[in-house]
Amino acid sequence: MNRIFKTAIIIFSALCGIVLTAAAVLYIISPSSAGRDISFRKGLPYHMVVAHRGASYYAPENTAPAFIIAGELGADYLECDVQRTKDGRLIIFHDKTPERTTDVSEIFPGREKAPVGSFTYSELMRLDAGTWFNMKNPERARESFRSTRICTFREYVDIAERCGKKPGLMIELKHPELYPGIEKEVIDLLAERGRIDNGSVRPDMIQTFDRKSLARCKELAPSIHRNFLVDEEGKEDTEWDERGWEGLLDDAVTAGSEIGPSGYLGWPWYTGSAHDRGLLVITYTIDRDIHFRMLTFFGTDWIITNRCGRALEFYGRKPGISPEEVMKSHNL
Ligand code: G3P
Ligand code: CA
Repeated sequence: MNRIFKTAIIIFSALCGIVLTAAAVLYIISPSSAGRDISFRKGLPYHMVVAHRGASYYAPENTAPAFIIAGELGADYLECDVQRTKDGRLIIFHDKTPERTTDVSEIFPGREKAPVGSFTYSELMRLDAGTWFNMKNPERARESFRSTRICTFREYVDIAERCGKKPGLMIELKHPELYPGIEKEVIDLLAERGRIDNGSVRPDMIQTFDRKSLARCKELAPSIHRNFLVDEEGKEDTEWDERGWEGLLDDAVTAGSEIGPSGYLGWPWYTGSAHDRGLLVITYTIDRDIHFRMLTFFGTDWIITNRCGRALEFYGRKPGISPEEVMKSHNL
C-alpha cells in the first residue's frame, strides 16, 4: 500500500511537472497579436510587405528595375537607402563604398574603397550598378541590367508615384552621420511632392539605425512615421547598452518611432514587450516562407524582404503578375 501510494505521488508530481513546463513554454512563445490594434490607432496598415532595396532578389538592389518590379508586384512599401554625392545630390545606395555593387575598379581604379559621398553625381552616373548582379546570380541575369545606373532619390520617388499600386516609401537614412542635414533634404523633397499628411493609406516612413538622426526627423516633421532599426548586440550598426532590449524600446518611444529589429530579434518575448510599449515590429530581412510564418506567429507586424512576391503570397495576396511579366512590359 505504502509503495502504491509512493508511486502515485511520483506519477502525480511528474504529471504536474509536465503540465507546468508546457504552460511555461506556451506562455513564453505565445504570440502577441496587439500589432493590429497598434496599427489601427496609428493610422497605419497591417501586415505590410516592404520590398528591401526594391525587388532585390530579381534585379540589382536599389536600382530603378528593382523598384519598378516591386511596385508592380504589389509591394506595400519600397525600401531604399539614401546617401548624398560630393556635390549634394541625394542618391540611393547601400554600402559606404561603391566597391561591391559597381564597376568602380574599372572606371576609377584605386577609388574602390573611397566613400560614396566622395564621388560627384556625374562620376557616380558613369558607374554600372547592374553587372555585379548578373555575375552573382547567373540564373537571374539579364542583359539589360548590364548598364543599370545608380538611382537618384528623385527617380525613386517618381517610380513609386508612377506605379498604379501606389506603394509607400520606406526611406532609410544610411550612415546619416556622414551627411549633415540629409534629414531636412529628404523631408523637403517629400513636402515638395505633397507626400506629408496626404492621407495615404500607406504613409511614408523614414528609418535609420541612428538615434540622433531619428530625433532630427521628429523635430523637422513630427507627423512623418519613423522606424528605429536595430540589430543584434555587438553588430556594427547598433549600439546596445546596459539597458538591453528595453533600452532600445525606450529610445524608440522617445523618437516616436516603431521598432525595426533584424530577424534574429523576432522572438515573442521581444515582440511582446515592443507591443506592450505601443510599438509596431517591422522585421528585416526575411526571405523564406518558414521564417514569414514563424515571425508572423511570434508577432512581427511588417516584413522587410528581398522577395516581396513570396511574402505577398504568404499573406494571401499573391501578385497577379510575375516578375518576368513586369520586366517584359517595362522593357527591363
Ligand atoms: O530595412 C532594414 C534594412 O534595410 C536594414 O539593413 O543593411 O539592409 O540597410 P540594411
Ligand atoms: Ca536598408
